[in-house]
Amino acid sequence: MDIFTNSPIHPFFFIFAAVFASGLFILNRFFSKRGPQQLPLPPGSMGYPYVGETFQMYSQDPNVFFTSKQSKYGPIFKTHILGCPCVMISSPEAAKFVLVTKSNIFKPTFPASKERMLGRQAIFFHQGDYHSKLRKLVLRAFMPQSLHYIVPQVESLALHALHSWEATHEINTYLEMKTYTFNVALLSIFGKDGAMYGEELKRCYYVLEKGYNSMPVNLPGTLFHKAMKARKELGRIVAKIMAMRREMKHDHNDLLGSFMEDKELTDEQITDNVIGVIFAARDTTASALTWVLKYLRDNPSVLQAVTVSFFLSSQSRILLN
Ligand code: HEM
Repeated sequence: MDIFTNSPIHPFFFIFAAVFASGLFILNRFFSKRGPQQLPLPPGSMGYPYVGETFQMYSQDPNVFFTSKQSKYGPIFKTHILGCPCVMISSPEAAKFVLVTKSNIFKPTFPASKERMLGRQAIFFHQGDYHSKLRKLVLRAFMPQSLHYIVPQVESLALHALHSWEATHEINTYLEMKTYTFNVALLSIFGKDGAMYGEELKRCYYVLEKGYNSMPVNLPGTLFHKAMKARKELGRIVAKIMAMRREMKHDHNDLLGSFMEDKELTDEQITDNVIGVIFAARDTTASALTWVLKYLRDNPSVLQAVTVSFFLSSQSRILLN
């Protein structure tokens, strides 16, 4: 999932985002039960009443806001954003504490404006039976048995990307990885229909993405307003694909197929989760791939070992066939 990013330093901000959410819950619990004076809160500033430091964050690139806070207060600091007191973290140890060791005491929540933009029925905003059901449906679509159908198409997307770089002197790896992961996401979510509606989906998604971290003011002309309009249009495209599939009555191994097989899910729930998974999968994976490429380039011996292992496995596949 991605909240505050547009560069390959994204993992830090993803952790910020994840813990932004979890931190809110913890802080709210402390504030409501014990009173703020007894809290062992980290350093930081809470800004003005209610608005907190929201304007400081949105008056510049959010990455600048976080970086300057981080250098002033260290990897764990408190602030107040979008009406919520919160704790931001960026160290691997703190991330492990929140996401693994003590994940049972944290509950994921998002600011209301982000929920509205992604869709309130998306998996991230729920717990309990509905959450478990969605998790199973998502996992089912990403099991090796389901994914193996699309391996040749994923390979051709990768080859297409490689060829397109041949003509250029320099590329921005992270942006290229974002394009590549978006194409793979469309393929794994919509199968062949992803290609048919790809351009429309991309156009809307990019507008949505641009407004995602903007100030949540829903007035004509604002990035937020444009993003909300694009979000509605994305919903209409997904509805069109679902209607087409219902008419054709074919089974599909992709994520949309997995959701549609569950007869209890409403179309709105399916749409919110399809869009949610694009958000969850795209920048995270693009970021990880960017770092993989960097480390392969920086370590020629590892690159050689990976190349040999890839060559051997493709040779054995040819022999087996
Ligand atoms: C390197 C890439 C990725 C990273 C670093 C990453 C990281 C994360 C993290 C930290 C969470 C929050 C976990 C929690 O709250 O306990 C999460 C949730 C989630 N991610 Fe990823 N993710 C990645 C790729 C993907 C991909 C490719 C998909 C596509 C299926 C995906 C789908 C999801 C979903 C659906 C959730 C919500 C799970 C839930 O609420 O139960 N992620 N991801």
